[in-house]
Amino acid sequence: MSDLKVFPRVTVPQLIRSKREGRKIVGLTAYDAVFAALEEEAGVDFLLVGDSAGNVIAGHSTTIPMTMDAMLFLTRCVSRGTSRVLVIADMPFGSFQVSVEDTVGNAVRFLKEGGAQAVKMEGAGYLIPTIRRLVDVGIPVMGHLGLTPQRINIFGSYDVQAKTREEAETLMDDAKALQDAGCFAIVLEKIPSSLAARVTEALSIPTIGIGSGPHCDGQILVSYDLLGVFDKFKPKFIRHYMDGAKLIRGAVSSWVEDVREGRYPTAAESYDSTEDENAPKRRSGTPTDQAR
Ligand code: KIV
Repeated sequence: MSDLKVFPRVTVPQLIRSKREGRKIVGLTAYDAVFAALEEEAGVDFLLVGDSAGNVIAGHSTTIPMTMDAMLFLTRCVSRGTSRVLVIADMPFGSFQVSVEDTVGNAVRFLKEGGAQAVKMEGAGYLIPTIRRLVDVGIPVMGHLGLTPQRINIFGSYDVQAKTREEAETLMDDAKALQDAGCFAIVLEKIPSSLAARVTEALSIPTIGIGSGPHCDGQILVSYDLLGVFDKFKPKFIRHYMDGAKLIRGAVSSWVEDVREGRYPTAAESYDSTEDENAPKRRSGTPTDQAR
């Protein structure tokens, strides 16, 4: 019990402190336990179980069809795969618009059943009383302004948002209202870099940018974009850190060829009736080596 940590994960106050201390916050999306564990090992501060799963996991053309059941399943997977990062569940379209009570019930499920420590929701305005209530009952909320993909049917495209002076002022007011309502951070998606800088300067809570330039307090990307796995569409703010799609196609096609040509599996990759793969291996080396 001596080394049992009271709260082993990155906390919301730690993220807020990062802004004050000028340490950039790094987040990434995750949808399953294996990738979440790798991303955690690579050093991110938080993982967002984004409803971008609608695009990259479920194959929909928008995030609109994502359901509570689907998002809860993915959130459980990411929580089980991690032990250090803050896990934030993205509230899907329809899960926070109906009523404050309904939203609290859904958000509670993300913490109790999904193992998340916070939720994210897109928008402001009508959501302010809902956010206040969530924070009151103990659920940290991350806001999301700018390009909010759940409003695709209003926007009609995934273009840069808040380009006019009037729209920029509305976004600034919304950001301040989200902060006043108790949000611990705000995602700024695809807005002009100069506006993101102004919002970041005006707020005491961190801004997390995606396609909004370098002046935010942190950055987030969709993991499939960063890894170059999702290569159907590449806005200019995305940097591929590997050509995942090419690597995966290459690996799978090598395996297909090996199977067809009889090169896989080999004798060394096959079992005989005396084998027990789980038996403890006989160790070689000197007794001193073995004691280490
Ligand atoms: O759903 C998502 O992945 C997101 C990020 C792009 C911020 O909301």
